Amino acid sequence: MTSPLIHAIIGCGRVAPNHVDAFAAQPGISVRWACDRDAAKARSLALAYDVPAVTTSVAEVLADAEVDSVSLAVDHAQHAELAAAALRAGKHVLVEKPLAMTVADGTELIELSERAGRVLSVVSQHRYDPLVRAVHDWLDSGLLGRLVSVHAVLQCGRTTTYYRDSYWRGTWSGEGGSALVNQGYHALDVVRSLCGGLSVVGAMTGTAHLREVMETEDTLAAVLSGSSGALVTYGVTVASVVPWRTRVTVVGTAGTVVFDLDHPGTLHFVEGGPELLREAEAERARTTREEPSGIDYYGISHRRQAADFCRAVRTGSPMTASGREGLETLRLLADLYRTGRRHAVVPQPATAG
Ligand SMILES: NC(=O)c1ccc[n+]([C@@H]2O[C@H](COP(=O)([O-])OP(=O)(O)OC[C@H]3O[C@@H](n4cnc5c(N)ncnc54)[C@H](O)[C@@H]3O)[C@@H](O)[C@H]2O)c1
Repeated sequence: MTSPLIHAIIGCGRVAPNHVDAFAAQPGISVRWACDRDAAKARSLALAYDVPAVTTSVAEVLADAEVDSVSLAVDHAQHAELAAAALRAGKHVLVEKPLAMTVADGTELIELSERAGRVLSVVSQHRYDPLVRAVHDWLDSGLLGRLVSVHAVLQCGRTTTYYRDSYWRGTWSGEGGSALVNQGYHALDVVRSLCGGLSVVGAMTGTAHLREVMETEDTLAAVLSGSSGALVTYGVTVASVVPWRTRVTVVGTAGTVVFDLDHPGTLHFVEGGPELLREAEAERARTTREEPSGIDYYGISHRRQAADFCRAVRTGSPMTASGREGLETLRLLADLYRTGRRHAVVPQPATAG
């Protein structure tokens, strides 16, 4: 029998319920700590999910020798420092996206985790969605033919209060960008995985509608190229009236797939050969809605990534969302910001006349 693993959640804000739920769902795991520098938030998460110990101190969690692993669900600016501290304390780390704010910090974390022999994984829950796995399989098995192009658009709506009430969102120092690195992360990360790598051809950022409350971008548009030559367009905005929708179109020489990445992933359209159509029918029939804990478009796949993480901790097996994958997505984000900020657009309000 394998010994139980003990996990801790650091940061008890919006996404924390997905972590405590994900680890609580794993056999042989117990979540011992809810840690937030705001004691009320730590207490409220602990109460809602029966977490026995509460603290405002990360050091207290890291000093608990029985803690095997931690989830880091804090603002982007603290990911690198807290992940390094946890790895140095001998903990395995599941850090929310992005891995770090800079590629240099991300690279140091990977090296540290490898030296320490500890698992470091960056949350990319949608890579584990059954529909995304199916599209991967259709590409790998040749049912879609050679990849020609991918078009991904996330539109969502964020209010002025969302930024005003946050100590870190909408700032370069706390969030490191906004629409792309925060809401748009998963669509980019999934497209990068479908294409086997992406490089930036061009990008523009805009702050059209939320500029009184954010110094970062509310919108980004980009053209990229896939490593096998696919042409890729990518767009994200947080200034839409649509609460949340990610639409991805994958065009191959033998088939086309249109799907929503959100929860539940929806397969809208498939065209291609009889085997692809049969597989798509099976996928539609198989997909059942699972009820997520917390905000519903975050989906249910934090559970799947937690399962992969626990397996890696126990057996050393490689993870789908490895730290190195997180580093490659961070590199791409940095390239997109470098290019996009050179072409930043701040539209002026329309003048009468
Ligand atoms: N995977 C997803 O779908 C998803 C969804 C939402 C957020 N996220 C990511 O999760 C992370 C957190 O986002 P959020 O929306 O939950 O933020 P949030 O602001 O709601 O919560 C962050 C919490 O961390 C606490 N905190 C900050 N510094 C701390 C410290 N040193 N010690 C203890 N507690 C500390 C804050 O008090 C706050 O309660 C970000 O990286 C974000 O990008 C991921």
